[in-house]
Amino acid sequence: MMNTPKLTVVGAGPGDPDLITLKAIKVLETADVILYDALINTDLLAYASVNTEKIFVGKRKGCYQYEQEQINELIVSRAKSDGHVVRLKGGDPFVFGRGAEEIEYAQKFGVETAMVPGISSAMAVPAYQGIPLTKRNSSESFWVITGTTKNHLLSNDVALAAKSTATVVILMGMGKLAQIISVFQHENKGDTPIAIIQNGTTAAEKTGFGTIETIGQVVIEKQLSSPAIIVIGDVVRQSPKFAFFYKNFKRQEQNVFVS
Ligand SMILES: C[S@@+](CC[C@H](N)C(=O)[O-])C[C@H]1O[C@@H](n2cnc3c(N)ncnc32)[C@H](O)[C@@H]1O
Repeated sequence: MMNTPKLTVVGAGPGDPDLITLKAIKVLETADVILYDALINTDLLAYASVNTEKIFVGKRKGCYQYEQEQINELIVSRAKSDGHVVRLKGGDPFVFGRGAEEIEYAQKFGVETAMVPGISSAMAVPAYQGIPLTKRNSSESFWVITGTTKNHLLSNDVALAAKSTATVVILMGMGKLAQIISVFQHENKGDTPIAIIQNGTTAAEKTGFGTIETIGQVVIEKQLSSPAIIVIGDVVRQSPKFAFFYKNFKRQEQNVFVS
């Protein structure tokens, strides 16, 4: 019997394979085909049946295996030929994840759709460094902004956020770091703390801490690059107090993989 064509867009979490939801695992178990992105932890594919076809559609060595249009078409054609397509995406699919676009496209072709939220890197990556995005007396809100818009420009929202007292979390911002620094300097915020966390929540994590004035040098010294989260605001000062979470995670990970 032909399986009903269905797309479920699923959040895989930020990298640590334990930061996936139970609901996501249940969906992976029922997948006929999985189309997965570069930023997902591939250990998660083990939740699917060995018979499930797993297709990498992300970016490798800076090049896209598939353009977005090709991914959309693949979702629809595989849903029609195989049944349940799971689109496994890093973090949360509705946070700079194109999850909504893929659902809209599939719906146009009559494919049934569903979505499972994920733990976004925007929140979990700072958390693993002991950075609470809000804290009484430190920050009343946070902005999550893309550093690079569709037109490859720095989002204008960065300048608006820099005027506020909010914690500012920037994704896809490493290529625009110099511009981001100058936006904050323009607001006389040279002393504001900033953290850059590359490959957060994974064993390959690298970090750099400083202020708006010093972070450029830190990035050079530590050779930080994408994928990274940039966190700007007073809450970054909390990191030494809470960073033990991450150390615990590393210890657990060593127990699992090294012994
Ligand atoms: C296309 S966006 C996808 C975001 C994703 N939907 C989410 O909710 O985490 C990709 C960007 O997210 C950030 N990112 C995702 N995972 C990360 C991680 N483990 N460590 C640091 N940054 C990460 C980086 O800024 C990266 O360039």
